Amino acid sequence: NKQKIVIAEVGRHLGESVTFGCWLTRRRSSGKIQFLQLRDGTGYIQGVLVKEEVPEQVWEEASRLTQESSLYITGVVREDPRSPSGFELSVTGVEVIQVTQDYPITPKEHGVDFLMDNRHLWLRAPRQRAILKIRAQIISAVQSFFDERGFTLVDPPILTPSSAEGTTELFHIKYFDEDAYLTQSGQLYMEAAAMALGKVYSFGPTFRAEKSKTRRHLIEFWMIEPEMAFVDHEENLRVQEQFVSHVVGEVLKNCRPELETLGRDIAALERVKPPFPRITYDQAIDMLKELGMELPWGEDFGAPHETALAEKFDRPMFITHYPTGIKAFYMKPDPNRPEVVLCADMIAPEGYGEIIGGSQRIDDPELMEQRFKEHDLSSEAYQWYMDLRRYGTVPHSGFGLGLERTVAWICGLDHVRETIPFPRMLYRLYP
Ligand code: 4AD
Ligand code: MG
Repeated sequence: NKQKIVIAEVGRHLGESVTFGCWLTRRRSSGKIQFLQLRDGTGYIQGVLVKEEVPEQVWEEASRLTQESSLYITGVVREDPRSPSGFELSVTGVEVIQVTQDYPITPKEHGVDFLMDNRHLWLRAPRQRAILKIRAQIISAVQSFFDERGFTLVDPPILTPSSAEGTTELFHIKYFDEDAYLTQSGQLYMEAAAMALGKVYSFGPTFRAEKSKTRRHLIEFWMIEPEMAFVDHEENLRVQEQFVSHVVGEVLKNCRPELETLGRDIAALERVKPPFPRITYDQAIDMLKELGMELPWGEDFGAPHETALAEKFDRPMFITHYPTGIKAFYMKPDPNRPEVVLCADMIAPEGYGEIIGGSQRIDDPELMEQRFKEHDLSSEAYQWYMDLRRYGTVPHSGFGLGLERTVAWICGLDHVRETIPFPRMLYRLYP
């Protein structure tokens, strides 16, 4: 009965004989010596067999191993300054579980469609592993940030009777005899939760039937949505810049090897510290004009505009006070200038676009009622939301951070398809 370890732990077993389960990524043989590249999900290590020093049967078993064959391996852990892990295994035993035939993803270059069709196998690549590790670290940093600041995690529903961000782009489903939709955003429910618990945040999947085929859009993506009672627009922005800086800081602290695997520019991430620059929508319009990208006041920005603006700054930046007409119905108008709202989008640097959308919310019951009418929202479906303004209304604010765009930015990826284990995109539902 062998004591099994994992590759990440080999450093604690220097000079000892250990056994672990693993897959072979590559095998080289000179006829007298075999080099086995091994991985187990926790790390990578090279196993070495010298023909003259191992039993004939062990040598033969190792010789059968092909790419992605599964096995238990036994050997003595040695220090090896030349290897990336710092260690090497002198192999003494090989127990084959399966010899893999014709593994589809070979070390040669493959096209994106082929890799996406084989996403379930592509995940085994070191680069994909690094991304999923960083994604997990980002999620854990999100939770620690809010948990340590008195926020309560609240889960809004996935099946909803109405929309949160507007009536288009919804996935429609039957809910017995009623109509239902997959949630676009948990925000409205989080507003109810904030009136019950003060400061809350959610973390869950959201769905948008957007016919956008871009490197920033997914059909199913995960959002972090904090909502805070007695918090205004200004404080909302301060929370956001601290939050994003914390998340980047935790990745820098805990994911160095993964960032290196991805070849990420560390210096760009190290600059992510508060305060983040802020410009108003009006200033953005002026800056775009100077850049030769003239836009009439009242039009929304597209990805090229965001990228051009972000290039002026070395860290994430806010664009605030958008025209009321192009933003969601629940955003509070600026009391000094009702044609703009107390909102902000956070734009990531290096061309990654909007990662946060947020605002102060309307707290006045009459204005809220008026907005329902203007936006043609059947106010019956929203009666519960009106109640939040009827019974003890307070100033409150919140925001939503898109997890996958954040992962793409922090990892330095050129497409969101690699930021989530199994992406749902306009023309992709498999695997
Ligand atoms: O700006 P959005 O639409 O804001 C809301 O849904 C608000 N209700 C959030 C709130 O205030 N509680 O979406 C928020 C973020 C975007 O900034 C973006 O990062 C991400 O969600 N996002 C997407 N990510 C990937 N694919 C898509 N199709 C996305 N749509 C939005
Ligand atoms: Mg937005």
